[in-house]
Amino acid sequence: MSILSNKHILLGVTGSIAGYKAADLASKLAQAGADVDVILTNAGEKFVTPLTFQSVTGRRAYTDNDLWGNEAHVLHVSFGKTADLLVIAPCTADTIAKLANGIADNLLTVTALAATCPLVIAPAMDGGMFDHPATQDNLAKLKERGAIIVGPAEGHLASGLTGTGRMVEPAEILGHIRIVLGRKGKLAGKKVVVTAGGTQEALDPVRVITNHSSGKQGYAIAQAALDSGADVCLVTAPTALTAPVGARVVKVNSAEEMLKAVLAESADALIMAAAAADFRPKNAAKDKMKKRDGIPQIELEATPDILKTVSGSPVDKKRFQVMVGFAAESQNLLENAAEKLKSKKLDFIVANDISASDAGFAVETNRVTILFANGERENLPLTSKMEVAEIIIEHTSRLLE
Ligand code: CTP
Repeated sequence: MSILSNKHILLGVTGSIAGYKAADLASKLAQAGADVDVILTNAGEKFVTPLTFQSVTGRRAYTDNDLWGNEAHVLHVSFGKTADLLVIAPCTADTIAKLANGIADNLLTVTALAATCPLVIAPAMDGGMFDHPATQDNLAKLKERGAIIVGPAEGHLASGLTGTGRMVEPAEILGHIRIVLGRKGKLAGKKVVVTAGGTQEALDPVRVITNHSSGKQGYAIAQAALDSGADVCLVTAPTALTAPVGARVVKVNSAEEMLKAVLAESADALIMAAAAADFRPKNAAKDKMKKRDGIPQIELEATPDILKTVSGSPVDKKRFQVMVGFAAESQNLLENAAEKLKSKKLDFIVANDISASDAGFAVETNRVTILFANGERENLPLTSKMEVAEIIIEHTSRLLE
């Protein structure tokens, strides 16, 4: 189940052109399973309408009219008590000043004052306004009280100037929301190293040998570990994906570099979702190989097996209490996976049949069987890579207990 499933999220929208991005944030939250109640300030309503938010959340959006309506005496208090998190995005300098000083003169600020849940603020304003000592003081006050300030980013501003004041993108705000919601999760205080993507082994300065791994399953595991409160290091081969917010990212190209990166970490768990190459050119050409020189004869040699290197050395094995591997197979799935589980000395291995079109590389879904060191097996039906990731994290945290 997603970290956002059935969470009650209040989204405050104040007066900024970045309000149009708040609709995307509301949509992303709702799609992730959250119950999203939106409160617009009067200025917020000038940029985007309540209908915009109602259309993406499936719930009515609230405005200042509701402060004076029939439910007024309880609405802000009940919101404040039931919400799991209040996010204000975009949040103007004016609303930041009100929050910092306990001013409660509209439904959003009254609710914020009554709320006991975590507060996430994504400022949006002109560069000069953000840099002003008054705004900086107000933000410092809010931070001291535990508010999480996300951004603002640098770039083009509505004024036409360039500076710091742009609201950060909804995906990034969502990442911070997940971290806040997950901070007391099962892996709080634990460190997890996740590897992802297909390594690249150089043939020459422009060509590589690689594989079809998209990195999606590994990135989903990193996200699921963050959702459980873990401190996450993502060791990643090149992918087209954006790393989850909060992960410490170590970029590598080859299997050799991935091994070095893994050995540089020590953590409670190592989850090897990467498709590390088994072979590499023995002698990568220093200069680009030319067509005119004819078809090259490429001699290959073995790359280091990362899991075997770690599990084969008492010193390195001690770095990780729990070790998890993957077995990507196109035939004899369970036999091959069982052999890898044993030879790589893993706590469990996630076996997937890469010959199926709806599982394995590049697609959003996976169909896996998990084989445990004690002989138990768990067959999962076709499911999203995020759900597979959550199950892997669930087993990892159980083994760490
Ligand atoms: N792995 C590794 N180091 C490598 C290759 C793979 O640590 N050089 C890890 C993978 O990240 C995965 C597990 O070992 O968690 C199994 O990878 P897989 O490619 O299925 O198996 P191999 O051991 O490479 O064997 P084969 O390719 O012959 O099936």
